[in-house]
Order: sequence, then C-alpha cells, then structure tokens
Amino acid sequence: MPTHSISYTAFNQPEELGAQDQVLLAAATAALEHSYSPYSKFRVAAAARLEDGTVVAGWNTENAAYPMCVCAEPATLAAAASQRPGMPVVAMAITVKSGSLTVDQPASPCGSCRQQLAEHEGRFGRKMKLILRGETGPVYVFDSAGDLLPFGFSGELL
Ligand code: THU
Repeated sequence: MPTHSISYTAFNQPEELGAQDQVLLAAATAALEHSYSPYSKFRVAAAARLEDGTVVAGWNTENAAYPMCVCAEPATLAAAASQRPGMPVVAMAITVKSGSLTVDQPASPCGSCRQQLAEHEGRFGRKMKLILRGETGPVYVFDSAGDLLPFGFSGELL
C-alpha cells in the first residue's frame, strides 16, 4: 500500500533556530498585539521573509459576521504582495496567543491557509519554509508549506 510521510524539525526553543529565523519568529510574536480578534480572543500573527530579505507581518482580523474573518497567513501574503509585488515569500513564521489558555505547542495553519500557502509556492516555484510556535514550547520547522498539504488541489487540473 502506498504511504506518504513528511519530515520536520522540532526545536526545543526559539534560541535553537538560525539567526534569520529567530528574527522572523520575533517579528511574528511582536505582531500579535495588532490582531483584531474580539470574538475568538485567539490571536494569530505571521511574519514573512521575502526573497530580498524584507520582513512583512500580518495578523488575523475578525468580523461580527464570523465567516468573514481573515486569517493571519493570507493577510501576511497579501501584505507582502502589496509591498513587494511579484516577489516570493521564502519563509513564514506563525505564532498564536489564546485569551483563555497558554498554547504550549505549535498551532498549524488551517486548511484554507494551507491551500493559499501551497498556491504561493507553486506560483513562484519556490519553497516556503514554515516556522511554527505556540506561546511557549517547541518550534516546528517545515521545509515547505506544501508538506502540510499532501494530495492538495492544484491548478494543474484546470
Ligand atoms: N486563524 C488564523 O488566523 N489562521 C489559521 O490558520 C487558523 C485560524 C484565526 C481565525 C480566527 O480569527 C481565529 O484564528 C480563531 O479561529
């Protein structure tokens, strides 16, 4: 029977990351304060590193009409696109802060975010490293956002 597996790296703490990735995670953590999440009280922020080294942050923005919420990851992709049109995001750090508990493990991007991150990779033909951390605890690093979306839908079928 065919199987599929992915590999990722787990670091015990952010200080074990390389310098550039530590900076990216710190930028995501700093951006948590901008999250507009009065309904879920669950803050999510991301920081993207572009091909030229520019760092752009984004966060989740909720709405009283709940399905209209914008997740941090596509908000960050959009912010990056408007600041550096046509330039690929080569790494993204994502972190969260709950209003009710201490998130001590990395929170993975939701399915919709994974689809959008994978499309970005496919569009630019560049892998996007993902660096995930909760409020405390380990850091998970994936070499490619596409690793989180095995057998995903792609435009090749259209
Ligand atoms: N959220 C994100 O920003 N990214 C994800 O990948 C998962 C969920 C946000 C949406 C909503 O504002 C809050 O987290 C709770 O679901």
